[in-house]
Amino acid sequence: KHGWARFENEPDTDWSLPQNAEWAKGVIAKWEQCYVEVPLVVDGGEVGNNHSTRDCMDPSNPNVLVGRYRLAQSGDITHAVECAARDEDGWRAMTARQRQVILKKVAEELRKARMDLMGSALANCGKTLMESDPEVSEAVDFVEFYADTARSFFELPNVTATGKGVVVVVSPWNFPIAIPCGGVAAALAAGNTVILKPASDAVLPAWEFCQCFWRGGVSRKTLQFVPCSGGKEGAQLVQHPAVSAVILTGGTETALTMLRAKPDLPLSAETGGKNATIVTAMSDRDQAIKNVLHSAFSHAGQKCSATSLLLLEAEVYDDPEFRRTFVEAAESLTVGSAWDLTTKMGPLIKAPSGDLENALLTLEDGESWALMPRKLNKNDCLWSPGIKWGVKRGSYTHLTEFFGPVLGVMRFEKLHEAIAMVNQTGFGLTSGLESLDDREQVEWRAGIRAGNLYINRSTVGAIVLRQPFGGMNKSAFGPGLKAGGPNYVAQFMSFAEEEKED
Ligand code: SER
Repeated sequence: KHGWARFENEPDTDWSLPQNAEWAKGVIAKWEQCYVEVPLVVDGGEVGNNHSTRDCMDPSNPNVLVGRYRLAQSGDITHAVECAARDEDGWRAMTARQRQVILKKVAEELRKARMDLMGSALANCGKTLMESDPEVSEAVDFVEFYADTARSFFELPNVTATGKGVVVVVSPWNFPIAIPCGGVAAALAAGNTVILKPASDAVLPAWEFCQCFWRGGVSRKTLQFVPCSGGKEGAQLVQHPAVSAVILTGGTETALTMLRAKPDLPLSAETGGKNATIVTAMSDRDQAIKNVLHSAFSHAGQKCSATSLLLLEAEVYDDPEFRRTFVEAAESLTVGSAWDLTTKMGPLIKAPSGDLENALLTLEDGESWALMPRKLNKNDCLWSPGIKWGVKRGSYTHLTEFFGPVLGVMRFEKLHEAIAMVNQTGFGLTSGLESLDDREQVEWRAGIRAGNLYINRSTVGAIVLRQPFGGMNKSAFGPGLKAGGPNYVAQFMSFAEEEKED
């Protein structure tokens, strides 16, 4: 009714055009000099002058300071939630049409800010311009699409829809533009006031896109910007009784910690993944190699959607030619500073620790390195791709999410065994199949337990409305409505049925 059925996705930058390559150099020239001081925005004003601060470092050059932000204290959290609950600027009372008009202006501001959004993700998160460019497009899509879909819910006949109240958005660092922007946009479009707690390692991009919301006409009381520690103050924020919904994108453990602290937390979370791509003997093998490498190593594997397990049918696994081509193709990925336009794989957000460090440095029984990962340029954050061959069913590599550039390769005989191996991870976010055979596709689709299924394409890079994104099992908590899908906004609204006597 309101046009979302004809929704058109925002185009990415066309890098084949020489003027856009020049434009990219301009982004780098502007942002390599950057240093940004970021305040807290609470109750309409910039606060926190005397608060303790945290440094923002550049993962490509981990000794370089690119900004500094203030940390909210307990009093700021209370103040922000009370302000959001009062809604003095009347966001909830607006019509859906009024909110839609403002959000369309926000989308326009995001388009205009493409350079600074990408520059800040480069400086603060080590994200290459190739990787951050589609994020800006996705952010624009989220804002426009949620504004449109929310309006269609608000204007349903015989139903009174309202926002739920105050929504807290807790965002990740790996998609520092699109994901938080999507959460904020959905909550606002659904008629809520919003408090954004950006990821500690991605405050600068969040600061850049919040300014687009404010310039577009969302007030600083309607959207507040509250970086804080993930410990005490973070817990205080999400557990505040006046908070009606918490949108989290982050680790499974973070979601579980939140729920342990408050079992009835109104949480809507998209969490981890241990995503697999199955390559059968019936695949186009060159195409499979291309898709798997992109799925596994784009943004250094730091995507919840990344393929981190590769399951090869025996005929493919045992083919030395396939292995050689695959490994050579992985070796050819240029690893380096995200500031270098020729870099295909940039740095990790920080030096690996925990499971990722373990995965990069050790092998288990039966495993060998088809490609051994190496630390480069004396930068603890910069690692070349690692490919582990001979991963055993039920092993640590099979079942643990690493969130980095390590791909485990497993062998299977029958497709139904491979499907069971994929489901055994207990996660269920994305899953890939490389096969040209219809019967295999049907069997795989029926058997795999994951939210986003991709056949003969990469498992990363979902597009708004085309591939609504979200998982099941350990990959999702809450209503499980998919981001970028037509019903996502509804979870942040309340509906009352009306019945009138004629
Ligand atoms: N939406 C992203 C992707 O599809 C992950 O969050 O890669």
